[in-house]
Amino acid sequence: MKRLAKISIVVIVVAVLALWVSSRWDAWFYNVPEEPYAAASVPDRITLTSGEDFMSERTVSWRCGDSVKPSKLVLASEDLDTVSIEAKGTVVQSRGGLDAFYVASMDSLQAGCCYSYRVETEGYEPSEWHWFKMPDKEQVRRSFLFFGDVQDTLGGNSGQWFAKLYKKYPEVEFWACAGDLIERPIDAYWNYLYESADSILASMPLFNATGNHDYIKSLYRKADPRWKHTFVYPDNGATTAKGISYYVDFPDMRFIVIDTDGLQDAMTLAGCYKWLRSCLREADDKWKVVMYHHPAYSVRKGRNNYLIRNTFVPLFDKYGVDLVLQGHEHGYMRVNGNEGEEKRPVYIVSYMSPKSYKAREPEQGLKVIADTRMYQVVEYDDSKLVFNAYSLDTDSILDHVEMKK
Ligand SMILES: [Fe+2]
Repeated sequence: MKRLAKISIVVIVVAVLALWVSSRWDAWFYNVPEEPYAAASVPDRITLTSGEDFMSERTVSWRCGDSVKPSKLVLASEDLDTVSIEAKGTVVQSRGGLDAFYVASMDSLQAGCCYSYRVETEGYEPSEWHWFKMPDKEQVRRSFLFFGDVQDTLGGNSGQWFAKLYKKYPEVEFWACAGDLIERPIDAYWNYLYESADSILASMPLFNATGNHDYIKSLYRKADPRWKHTFVYPDNGATTAKGISYYVDFPDMRFIVIDTDGLQDAMTLAGCYKWLRSCLREADDKWKVVMYHHPAYSVRKGRNNYLIRNTFVPLFDKYGVDLVLQGHEHGYMRVNGNEGEEKRPVYIVSYMSPKSYKAREPEQGLKVIADTRMYQVVEYDDSKLVFNAYSLDTDSILDHVEMKK
C-alpha cells in the first residue's frame, strides 16, 4: 500500500512538472524562424556610441556586404583637416544570413566641436554624411533620455516616437535603452528599427542593454551575434560578458550597463559581480547610474528577480548607487526615493512598447503607473540630479524625483 502511495506521488509530480514545462516550452525554447536575407548593398545600420570617456571618444559601426573589405570612416570638422579612420571588419553569421560589420573608433575629439562623417566600404557607394556634436567641457548641467522596452510591431509607431523625442530634446547627450529595443532577433526587426529611427542613431549616441528579446533561446541562451557588432561599446566590461556589459564615464557620472540575460551559470555571475564591484568602487563620488533589463523589483507581484536582488542590490547599497534603470515588465514603477526622501537607489522600471502588462496595486514606497507608455529625462550636475517621467502620448509629467549629493 505504501509503495503504491509513493508511486502515485511520483507520477503526480512528474505529470505536474511535464505540464509546467510544456506550458513554458515556447517561452523558453521557441525562436521565431528567421527568413534568409541578402546582405546590405550599401552601408546601413550606422550607429553612434561612445568609448569609455564620453567627453572625447566616439565609435561608429555599420553593416555592408557579406565579406570584409577595406573600409574607413571619413571625419570632417570646421577646425580640422578631413581625416580617414580605418575600420575593423568582422563577418557575422546569423540564422538568416551573413553580414560584414565594421567599426571605427575615434578618440581625442575636441570638446564642443561639431563633426561630420561618412563611412566607406570598398566596392560600395559611400554612406550619406552624418554629424555629431561633442559635449562642452564647461557645461555644468547635463542630461540624457531613458526608455525601457521598445519592442514595436512591424509597421508600428516607434518612428513617430523617436522623431518626436529627438526634436523635443535636442540638448540631451545620449539615449539609453534598458534592452528589448527590437521585438525579435531577426533581420526584419533589425531593419524596422533602423527604418523607424531614420538616421537618429547615427547622430545621437545610444547606450543599449541586452534584453531577452535580443537573445536566441536554447538550453543555454546566446545573444544575437549581430548585437555587439551593431552596438559597439567600450571593452571594459566583465570578462564573462565582453561587449555586452560596459561603463562610460562623464565628469560627474559613471553610467554602468549590465547584461542580465547572460547570467546563466555561476562563473558568469561571479565574473559580473566582481566586475560590478570594482566598477562601483572606482566611481568615487560621481553619480552612479546602473542600467539593465530584468528588474530587481517587478511591476507584477510575485515576479521579483531574486537573483538580481540577492547579488547586485547589496552592491548597489554598499557602494551608493543613485539610480537604477530597468525594463522588461512593460509597466512603469518606481521603488524608493519618494519625493523628499533620501533613500537610494531609486529603482525605475519603464517601457514604451505597444504591449502593456497588468500592473500591481501601488504599495508603500511604490509608484505604479499602468497602461501608459513612458519616457524619462534625467538632468544632473555635480550636486543635484532631477528625474522626470513623461507619458509618451501626452508628454505630461507623471513622476518626479530629485536627489542631492
Ligand atoms: Fe524583456
